[in-house]
Amino acid sequence: MTIHANSLGNTNKFLILGCGFSGSFFAKTIRQLGCTALTSSRSKNKDPDSFVFNSENGIIPNEEIFDGVTHILSCIPPDKNGNDPVLKCLKNKLKTISLEWVGYLSTTGVYGNTKGDWVSEADQPNPFQKRSHKRLRCEKEWIESGLPIQIFRLPGIYGPGRSTFEAIRNKKIRVISKKNQVFSRIHVADIANAIIYLLQNKNYLKFHQIINIADDEPCSQIEVIQYCYDLLGYKMPIPIPFDDAKKELSPIAQSFWMENRRVSNKLLCETLGYKLIYKNYKVGLKNCFLNN
Ligand SMILES: NC(=O)c1ccc[n+]([C@@H]2O[C@H](COP(=O)([O-])OP(=O)(O)OC[C@H]3O[C@@H](n4cnc5c(N)ncnc54)[C@H](OP(=O)(O)O)[C@@H]3O)[C@@H](O)[C@H]2O)c1
Repeated sequence: MTIHANSLGNTNKFLILGCGFSGSFFAKTIRQLGCTALTSSRSKNKDPDSFVFNSENGIIPNEEIFDGVTHILSCIPPDKNGNDPVLKCLKNKLKTISLEWVGYLSTTGVYGNTKGDWVSEADQPNPFQKRSHKRLRCEKEWIESGLPIQIFRLPGIYGPGRSTFEAIRNKKIRVISKKNQVFSRIHVADIANAIIYLLQNKNYLKFHQIINIADDEPCSQIEVIQYCYDLLGYKMPIPIPFDDAKKELSPIAQSFWMENRRVSNKLLCETLGYKLIYKNYKVGLKNCFLNN
């Protein structure tokens, strides 16, 4: 990571709204740079840096949580009605704070099905799933909010503790083959590091409101699963053709197979110069394997 003179440091206070898989990794990484980071979850926990925010029952953070906040990252998906939980409950509050930056984690699902073609930020979103229409509406609402928003579109997120290894170990793995089907992915460390890279270099780089964070090599699910079985030293079960497997899949699992796209990271990695830590699933999964 390139560190410039304007590096983030102890004058910055981050609120990470939604401290799940990506949010907690981001909080850990930003703290290592000396920043303060408070994180939200829907119920109380023992972490002294955690506070409760739950749009489902209207529990919003106390006033003092917002004191001195300079940066916000929202990692919370749309609620069941398609509303953005943060904008629904906190937009007016956020507009009273002098924020330097607000980040929003979105999904590459907004691009819809490109039948295996590459898709970039320059392409018009073309959502296919209902949930992706909702997501695109949330993106628009963030853009129109008047807040200093930057949106990150993410494909499948994996990392230590959430990867194909867990699916194999928990016997939840389904080895399915579907011709020409690929998926894009991103290691959780690259989400955190790419965002921090952009923040650290923001005085030097052109601002882009929407940025994909994906690795270099979209590929089939089978390739990934085979690689994990090989690392574990187990034999991979014989793949089931998608048409046979789909009857057993939940509607949500089926929906992932209905879209086939390669997500381009050229804006992030070529134009803006971010260097991926895990450029493909092999190096990323090696890291998961060694950290489990
Ligand atoms: N997982 C993927 O592969 C993937 C791919 C592309 C995009 N995304 C999107 O990227 C973002 C981060 O993903 P992730 O997998 O890191 O998320 P995650 O682990 O599922 O965490 C989501 C967080 O949002 C909080 N949350 C959910 N609903 C809420 C509500 N109504 N009010 C307040 N807080 C709420 C959760 O609270 P608790 O901590 O209390 O549960 C949790 O902290 C999400 O928007 C996700 O949809 C995910």
